[in-house]
Amino acid sequence: MRHLTALVVTLLMSACVKTVPGGKSMQTNPIVQTGDPVLRAAAQDVPVERIGTPEFNALITRMVDTMRAAPGVGLAAPQIGVPWRVLVLEDREELMTALTPEERAERERLPVPVRVFINPTLTPIGEDKVTFFEGCLSVAGFAGLVERHHEVEVSGLDEKGQPQTWRVKGWPARILQHEVDHLLGTLYIDRMLTRSFGTAAQVKARFAGKSIAQVKQELGFTK
Ligand code: CO
Repeated sequence: MRHLTALVVTLLMSACVKTVPGGKSMQTNPIVQTGDPVLRAAAQDVPVERIGTPEFNALITRMVDTMRAAPGVGLAAPQIGVPWRVLVLEDREELMTALTPEERAERERLPVPVRVFINPTLTPIGEDKVTFFEGCLSVAGFAGLVERHHEVEVSGLDEKGQPQTWRVKGWPARILQHEVDHLLGTLYIDRMLTRSFGTAAQVKARFAGKSIAQVKQELGFTK
């Protein structure tokens, strides 16, 4: 674990400072891209004694800032090169402006304040599955349709080391499944309907505003 601690410190020192609209400065890390082995390894549990240390708090802040600057709705520690089982997520109104009210409703997408999960476990609830386009900051510039559980329950520790459980459906449930996958070395491209894979620009140009039923029909899916 000493090696990992040194790695975290090195990564925190290598960050760059960005100024975002509104003038706030953020410290961000480069986001590791697909092909890097850190995205394909199972991350390690964070030792509980690390939680709450200045170095660990700095890691959480860095992850949140990197997610916001991207911008994205979730980030797992391996995506900034840290092989620890930590994820952050946040969804904001300003990230949904490109969606029609129908698209928002279909995705069950609502603002979610920042949540941090350390050493999480995820359990699907029920049998319902839902399919939507999904992207990943580590597969920059692309999107694909991914089937996910409609509802999940995630348990783990929060940033203060307190146990927490969150049962949620809709878009936050999708984000959680995507981020927990990262901690297991799995990317959405492993789960996607491969013939739906395209650049984010193509997906937007072809399918913005359309229902998923129509999208699947246009892509040649029979169900
Ligand atoms: Co991702």
